[in-house]
Amino acid sequence: MSISYDPKRKTLTLATKNTTYQMGVGPVGHLLHLYYGRRAEGSFGHLYPPHDCGFSPNPYELRDERGWSPDTMPQEYSGSDTGDFRLPCLEIAAEDGVRGADLRYVRHEIRPGKYGLPGLPASFDREGEAETLAVTLSDPAAGVEVELLYGVFAARDVITRAARIVNVSTRAVRLEKAASMCLDIPFGTWDLLHFHGRHTMERQPERTCLSHGVQSVGSRRGASSHQHDPFVILCGRDAAEDAGECYGLMSVYSGSFETDVELDQMNALRAVAGIRHDGFSWTLEPGEAFFTPEVILSFTDGGFTALSHTYHRFLRRNICRSPWTERPRPILLNSWEAAYFDFDADKLLSIARGAKALGAELFVLDDGWFGVRNSDSSGLGDWFANEKKLPGGLAPLIREMGRLGLRFGLWVEPEMVSEDSELYRAHPDWALTVPGRKPVLGREQLVLDLSRPEVADWLYDTIAGLLTDYDISYIKWDMNRSLTDLYSRGLPPDRQGEVGHRYMLGLYGVLERLTASFPHVLFEGCAGGGGRFDAGMLAYFPQIWCSDNTDPIARLAIQHGTSFGYPMSAVSAHVSASPNHQTGRTTPLGTRGLAAMGGGFGYELDPGALTPEEAEEIRRQIARCREYGDIVLTGDLYRLTVPGKGPFTAWQTVSEDGARSILCAVVTEPAGNPLPMHVRLKGLDPAGRYAVTDLDVFGSRETGAWLPEEEYTGAALMYGGVTLPSLKGDYPSAALYLERRD
Ligand code: DGJ
Repeated sequence: MSISYDPKRKTLTLATKNTTYQMGVGPVGHLLHLYYGRRAEGSFGHLYPPHDCGFSPNPYELRDERGWSPDTMPQEYSGSDTGDFRLPCLEIAAEDGVRGADLRYVRHEIRPGKYGLPGLPASFDREGEAETLAVTLSDPAAGVEVELLYGVFAARDVITRAARIVNVSTRAVRLEKAASMCLDIPFGTWDLLHFHGRHTMERQPERTCLSHGVQSVGSRRGASSHQHDPFVILCGRDAAEDAGECYGLMSVYSGSFETDVELDQMNALRAVAGIRHDGFSWTLEPGEAFFTPEVILSFTDGGFTALSHTYHRFLRRNICRSPWTERPRPILLNSWEAAYFDFDADKLLSIARGAKALGAELFVLDDGWFGVRNSDSSGLGDWFANEKKLPGGLAPLIREMGRLGLRFGLWVEPEMVSEDSELYRAHPDWALTVPGRKPVLGREQLVLDLSRPEVADWLYDTIAGLLTDYDISYIKWDMNRSLTDLYSRGLPPDRQGEVGHRYMLGLYGVLERLTASFPHVLFEGCAGGGGRFDAGMLAYFPQIWCSDNTDPIARLAIQHGTSFGYPMSAVSAHVSASPNHQTGRTTPLGTRGLAAMGGGFGYELDPGALTPEEAEEIRRQIARCREYGDIVLTGDLYRLTVPGKGPFTAWQTVSEDGARSILCAVVTEPAGNPLPMHVRLKGLDPAGRYAVTDLDVFGSRETGAWLPEEEYTGAALMYGGVTLPSLKGDYPSAALYLERRD
């Protein structure tokens, strides 16, 4: 049993393989958070003796016990305006004017299996491995009950949290904030590691020393965003890759979110995560319930690598539902950087012939194939082929691809509409716009109001129609602007605060139906690259286009940051032409290939522009990918260096059984008189004997001698390390392939 109740102490304990989480009912019913950390038996109530902290008020029942205040006690789900002045989880405004939330324990229930969240993506129980704890809190004055949901995946060291808020009164209740969870960490000194960025430079790690007050990580963009990621790590000041205490908090949500962290007067930390509350409100009529999105929590004292591995495995096995998740994906060629909007059927077929000759298995027709779409200013919404470019439509093109032996993939951006489109002319009211105000445009396009069921149904029917009518094996689902003008003509004035979240529910509903109806289709998510790279999207899309930046050196940094929370199986990355279209940098083809070794591997260039030598090198690259791709897809990733800190970037992947491994190193800052590159390997079997099965060196004029012995013990490679000779040239790189010999 991973969940237990001690009736004497009134404590509830969640136990995973290496962690313990405990909560307890306080003297007048507050649900207190007592402990989350390294596995430890026993109770933790003794950590919080009475302490009278001036201006921290007391519940009425404890008016003569000044040492007890909700303001100083760690809480499981903080209320508002009832004596705890730190970050609240729940803010309420009832129809009769009652505000605030004073939540007290009522009951709890332990259930087998993992709870579900209607309408929202959530982790799932694959092999009867999870248990659910549901703890009901209530505030009779506000007229709400809150059911706190905990999913305990003991073997995975993961605890998930969400909340179900029910209006148990006879009048309407408006939620003005409904966070998914709160985590109080009463002791210690903590840093916040978060991942910020911008378009083409997503998820750059930033570690900040927390100071008193609130630090907020979040998005108001209607998408999880390029700018901030809904995954953060709270880590001990001494935490590093291989050691140190770390708490991970990952929201399974793709819309506007907030993860706020507060260091309070007692030097205690509180993290509150969930839907972004500014701009949000939700009205519950009597009897109605609201489900918050899920947050995935994990703790380790083994540093960032251990935390990353927990999330990688959990996302692959308990979030991603696609049958493609751990299956080798087809190697593809995408038309975007090869042709942009400038193509016709002949040009596409010539690119496809070239792709086939290189060894690609799938041709992806990116933007520009539909409506009137010769630039990004028109056509979105008109999801039928542009017959000027593709005479006879998609069918003859797909037939020809089949004859070439290529499967066919299609780009769509279905959440959007161009003003210059048949769809907009027919349904101008389907776009999110505020009456009387000119809408804000992004890439000259508007966003469809997916909070309206008829718009979501149209969207489902349109994409399902394409997938039914044509032999399409892959869909790239793009989304190229932030949401603004959140006003829906489908909702009354007092419910406009619901639009942002209803949009997400509409989108999730469409994705749920599409992925269930077309399970064989490989869906790739995209939002101008990695603008919606989150666990919510991964529930539907096993891979996401990680960034519009295909420069390998920039990608190393982006993929490094991404890897803290997300597995390489989720990362789609392509080899593109050099000089790179985004940065203008020239890099060796081999270095581009190493950087693109993600779950979704492919090319984004015109094969007709390649020299015979380059074409041959790509054939070798594809062969390597087929031979070793499974390690990247299902193995463990080790970050050996930090991109930008030092002359080279190195990383290693190890198959889950420790038998095969790839070491990659890229010189990112070519220097005079370069030193040999030394790294210590990780994750190998110390007693195992490893042989170098292959070695690639790209773009270097000097390679020197490489590992002269035939075999090395795992211990020698991990504790002594590997010294790679210095490489000279423009961004040279090397890959070393190891296999255990027993
Ligand atoms: C943004 C995507 O990230 C690109 O890969 C490409 O599909 C363009 N949109 C097409 O408009």
